[in-house]
Amino acid sequence: MKYRDLIQFDPIESVIVLRSADDKKKAEELVSSYVMSDSMAELISARIISQLRLEEVVDNKGILLVGNYGTGKSHLMSVISSIAADADMLALAQNAQFKTDAACIAGRFEVLRIEIGSTAMSLRGIVTSTLEQDLAKRGIVFKFPPADQITNNKDSLLDMMAAFAEKYGENRGYLIVVDELLDYLKTRKDTELMADLGFMRELGEIIKSTRFRMISGVQEALFDNSAFRQVSSSLLKMKDRFEQVLIRSEDMAYVAQNRVLRKSAEQKAQIREHLQKFCPLYQNMADRLEDYVDMFPIHPAYIYTFQHIVTVEKREVLKTISETISGVLDQDVNDTKPGIISTIPTGSASRRIRACAPIPPSMRSYRSPPSWRIFFPAPSRRQAIGRWPFK
Ligand SMILES: Nc1ncnc2c1ncn2[C@@H]1O[C@H](COP(=O)(O)OP(=O)(O)OP(=O)(O)O)[C@@H](O)[C@H]1O
Ligand SMILES: [Mg+2]
Repeated sequence: MKYRDLIQFDPIESVIVLRSADDKKKAEELVSSYVMSDSMAELISARIISQLRLEEVVDNKGILLVGNYGTGKSHLMSVISSIAADADMLALAQNAQFKTDAACIAGRFEVLRIEIGSTAMSLRGIVTSTLEQDLAKRGIVFKFPPADQITNNKDSLLDMMAAFAEKYGENRGYLIVVDELLDYLKTRKDTELMADLGFMRELGEIIKSTRFRMISGVQEALFDNSAFRQVSSSLLKMKDRFEQVLIRSEDMAYVAQNRVLRKSAEQKAQIREHLQKFCPLYQNMADRLEDYVDMFPIHPAYIYTFQHIVTVEKREVLKTISETISGVLDQDVNDTKPGIISTIPTGSASRRIRACAPIPPSMRSYRSPPSWRIFFPAPSRRQAIGRWPFK
């Protein structure tokens, strides 16, 4: 029996380019391929759709979608913005609860997607020039005043929304989606950063009184981020106007199980039977057998641990799982070992990190194959891995 026989492997090879959703065909693909658990659907409804909605508004804010590299931020922002722009897209979404909850924003928006590349422009410069170009494409002539001739940005943003409403009426919203914001902000000097965050705050402020809405994807939580310690007062002011929505490791596990590691009921039964033999050797395995089956051949603690490693370079968890699985597909799963992959590659063979708890005493007398040896990076295991998920 090979790994290939036990999973319906669907590889993840690339990151999503937000602006690819400008193309209708690609947007359809992105909406239909987005895997969403019920708890993710609940989170999206409570924290994202509630901020985007145009009716029953209560102090609406901008949204910062926070998740490590490769956790699906650009994919999710493509899905939400495609549905916001075109109600027909809603039917392609996978989660029934999400379809019901997102109906209130479906087709209600004009959408502008901005991907910030390497640039020396200010955030204000980037956003206002892209807005001007987008409005011009829509036949609206609007120019923002030069930055040195204004006392604040809110007035000109409100004027822009008035020009937008003249063309689209009072019922339509204008959604801007900004990707790669954190990488950009990290290139900015302190004084520039303060101006950028001030502009973000002003964007956030007009949301509550207009039909302007904004979502942005960032790899780490902005507030409480030590990289921005020196501009903490600007961040604090901005924080009031943005809702941070975190993509959790449980959500990533669901995506891994349902996209990369999908299994039929028969395949699950085969894996269950195979793993049961090893339950007495591993603490928790019997209690969590279904998690082991759903994530097989990846250890259930893999994703949590991956997201808490601080000593290795930025990596994408789904892509790493996908690459790991493609490497073992033709290997045999035999009766003498569980065949669970718990080693996280870090780019250097001597610094591999095991995702699971140490081998229990009963296992030490068991002849472990090399893949079960433990490699921990300096300086210390606890520091590298963060909170230990399993006792
Ligand atoms: N919920 C999901 N359903 C289906 N595929 C997903 C999901 N989440 C992530 N993916 C896949 O994982 C890969 C990475 O996703 P994406 O590019 O959106 O991540 P990201 O968070 O924007 O990464 P980065 O921070 O590097 O920009 C893509 O191939 C995407 O299709
Ligand atoms: Mg992205």
